[in-house]
Amino acid sequence: MIIFFVLLSVLSSSWGLQEIELKTFLREDMPPPATNLSLARNVFQSYINMPLDHFDPQNDKRFAMRFMFNEEFFGGPGSPIFIMAGGEWDIHPAWLAAGNMYEMARENKGYLIYTEHRYYGKTLPFKEHTTENLRFLNMDQALADLAHFITEVKTQPRFNNSEVIMYGGSYAANMVMWFKQRYPHLVLGSIASSGPILAKIDFPEYLEVVHEAYLLEGGDQCISIIRQGIQDTIAHMNTDEGREALEAAFGICEPIDYSDPYDLGYFSGLITWSFSNTVQRASPGSLIQICNNFTGNYYGNTPMEKIGGFVSLVQNRTENECWDIVYDNFLDSYNKTDNSRAWYYQTCTEYGFFQIAPKSGTVFDSLKWLNLDFYITACKRLFDERFDEKFVYAAADRVNLVYGGLDPEVKNTVNIHGYIDPWRALGVYDEHISETSPTYTIERASHCFDMQGWLPSDTIRMTFMKQEARRIVASWLSNRKNH
Ligand SMILES: *[C@@H]1O[C@H](CO)[C@@H](O)[C@H](O)[C@H]1NC(C)=O
Ligand SMILES: *[C@@H]1O[C@H](CO)[C@@H](O)[C@H](O)[C@H]1NC(C)=O
Ligand SMILES: *[C@@H]1O[C@H](CO)[C@@H](O)[C@H](O)[C@H]1NC(C)=O
Ligand SMILES: *[C@@H]1O[C@H](CO)[C@@H](O)[C@H](O)[C@H]1NC(C)=O
Ligand SMILES: *[C@@H]1O[C@H](CO)[C@@H](O)[C@H](O)[C@H]1NC(C)=O
Repeated sequence: MIIFFVLLSVLSSSWGLQEIELKTFLREDMPPPATNLSLARNVFQSYINMPLDHFDPQNDKRFAMRFMFNEEFFGGPGSPIFIMAGGEWDIHPAWLAAGNMYEMARENKGYLIYTEHRYYGKTLPFKEHTTENLRFLNMDQALADLAHFITEVKTQPRFNNSEVIMYGGSYAANMVMWFKQRYPHLVLGSIASSGPILAKIDFPEYLEVVHEAYLLEGGDQCISIIRQGIQDTIAHMNTDEGREALEAAFGICEPIDYSDPYDLGYFSGLITWSFSNTVQRASPGSLIQICNNFTGNYYGNTPMEKIGGFVSLVQNRTENECWDIVYDNFLDSYNKTDNSRAWYYQTCTEYGFFQIAPKSGTVFDSLKWLNLDFYITACKRLFDERFDEKFVYAAADRVNLVYGGLDPEVKNTVNIHGYIDPWRALGVYDEHISETSPTYTIERASHCFDMQGWLPSDTIRMTFMKQEARRIVASWLSNRKNH
């Protein structure tokens, strides 16, 4: 054993490369708004005691749910409460010190709160994320947490007459929309930003929008460079020299096992996740810059080197680091008690959202190893053999049955999407949800853009959207006051 390790380290030092642990993919913390963090001096943190199982009166177990609050604008009794719902990430004080909800609180003398979702961040009902312990992790319990939270807050006399407005982005957009649907007596209205409200196991549409985003921003020329780079990469898999060149271009330490479809699925994912990452975070102009860099040989010279260099750069791999493309490493990165494992569990037991290679002529079509088997095998190996294809489809059906899929019956919910956000494919983006729940889809905008405060890079439409959300919230509050 010892000899084995010594050998390994000699080998890798002779290459001058250091092996790095891959980041987990498929979920990302919501980046906090750019703000002067000295403003967060008004943000405080606390915990509330929460029932573990809201639906079983015989279960009296509890856990501590974290939340943050900021009362700098609060106008006293009768003034509203603004709650940002936390999703599958750690809550961050910057969201109560900047951003569009912060502006809403300023304009309406609101009290600001940010709640953390059970099983994420510091809100951990159990020490370990075993499959058994994870069974209280689902939307129904998370919404009941919010209901319990609001009810507790409103027992304080200064809040007994306060209206509640909720704001959520991404998965938390589903939360605030579905909270308004299920607990309409507890919330006046919600702003749902980029909510993928349809649970769907096979989700090729995600990469279709990533393709479309590069096409819209960078044009045919950019698409053909990416297409050729990915096709050349795959062509290189057929010969020994080709494989060596491929591994050099991508900075891979140990040769890939080209006979293992799961390892190739992981490799495919590394490529698609790099492109989707840049699209999900895109601001106006950022994809054009990437396309210019493809044309200008910034990432590499040959078509394959361009892709390899781009992937390495997006994944923050420095020159002296390399990675191993082994499916077990992918599983390991999800086999810890952290946000990633909890989120993977939710994809297996509620939403799917499995971003598979499309079959519709996109640049990603040829990465066929990124398929359902790749993702569902992870469900089985990480959690339980029973989490097979039939199980995950039934799980998504249950969510759509409970919350209504693309036809949610909900009032007073502003439904916002970015046209180049890959997640909008699972939201309602081309029609209003109801008379009081209007939809806004903003071109050239990506994921959750409206949650930020005003930015110098904002397009006119984006500035309009941020103002429009604030106007609607103010009108809900003033109508309520007049009654
Ligand atoms: C941040 O805010 C503080 C207090 O308002 C101010 O003194 C400081 O100059 C600000 N820093 C920046 C970088 O704007
Ligand atoms: C709210 O609390 C105040 C102060 O304790 C009390 O005077 C008032 O009657 C309460 N209002 C409602 C609606 O319960
Ligand atoms: C594009 O290339 C420029 C140098 O020409 C570099 O500064 C910039 O970081 C690159 N941008 C991206 C997104 O790769
Ligand atoms: C890479 O590093 C930069 C600078 O530290 C950071 O802004 C960016 O989010 C990182 N990207 C990823 C994919 O982690
Ligand atoms: C995850 O970790 C547990 C406990 O260490 C281990 O039993 C299990 O085999 C691991 N699963 C995978 C897929 O690595």
